[in-house]
Amino acid sequence: MCACADELILSDVQLNRDKDSQIVLNKKHGEYAIHLVDFHIKLPGCLIQIVSERTEKSFGITDSIHDDDGDLIVSRSAANFDKQNQTLNFRIHHAMETHLADVGLQVWMGALGMIDFMLDNVQLFRNKQILELGAGVGLTGIVAGTLTNKITLTDVGENILGLCEMNYHANQNIFQSPPHCFEIRELNWHKPTSIKSLCIPKPDIIMACDVIYDNDITNAFFQTLQILLNGDTYTKEGCRPSIVKVYISTEKRLNFTLEDLDITCKEYNHFLCKLSELENTFQSSLSVQRIDMEDISQFCQYNQTQQLEIWEIQKQL
Ligand SMILES: C[S@@+](CC[C@H](N)C(=O)[O-])C[C@H]1O[C@@H](n2cnc3c(N)ncnc32)[C@H](O)[C@@H]1O
Repeated sequence: MCACADELILSDVQLNRDKDSQIVLNKKHGEYAIHLVDFHIKLPGCLIQIVSERTEKSFGITDSIHDDDGDLIVSRSAANFDKQNQTLNFRIHHAMETHLADVGLQVWMGALGMIDFMLDNVQLFRNKQILELGAGVGLTGIVAGTLTNKITLTDVGENILGLCEMNYHANQNIFQSPPHCFEIRELNWHKPTSIKSLCIPKPDIIMACDVIYDNDITNAFFQTLQILLNGDTYTKEGCRPSIVKVYISTEKRLNFTLEDLDITCKEYNHFLCKLSELENTFQSSLSVQRIDMEDISQFCQYNQTQQLEIWEIQKQL
């Protein structure tokens, strides 16, 4: 994702683009077309029953209205289960192209890679308190609603947070019926803050998808992560989780540079440096490992490449 500030960047995610259904959002960096796109996601066997029941329930209840003659009209819920193909279909508003400052309005490969990982590791995420950093339009966090009802999504800027909110409302029928706790909050890594001052629930799992593309942003992201992983953030509250797991999905973007006269990935190399700095900071209480994507089943429709990686950080508190 190397680009000048005024250059338009295209998302690779062009799934089932529905040209007829698009709205336009006015942006300070220009005017982007925001598309309403269906994401068809296969479900692991253990989720099919739960999710089909939830979507069927909402199909009958939340979406039933009466026409002028008093006849019942049942319209389709936003998130719906396709029994024939065994897919859960999410309707997500997002942009296909934006400037660098607004890439959060698009859906990125890292989001789809993380969904594959979550659905392949249901037990890891089930009923866990999840905090997502840089959630963008919210697809990953919304899909996590099939596994847990305790989710906080964070990002920066009212346009991104607004679109995320819109997508949550459109697909909220996949969440367990009340009580579920889905929060969308601003968390700017350039103004790092603790869980306590953010007043958000303590996470068991922190996830971040495709947030490694600019070294300054990566520095700010790791600074925030360091605060969130610091046991002191939790101690005064009591009942802190004993371990926090962090999952970061990233696409290694290779570029030929004249400076190096070679194909390099400077942002990725910088990410690896920040990971080892984090290991040095927390020493034996923290471990880092790369998860092999080849071992992960694919549930989303996209072209999974070797450049897509997921990293796991485990921190004892
Ligand atoms: C490439 S997008 C990925 C969006 C989404 N996670 C996905 O994979 O589709 C990077 C995300 O990081 C967010 N981000 C960038 N700088 C940030 C900052 N300083 N604080 C919080 N989020 C930031 C962007 O707003 C954007 O949502």
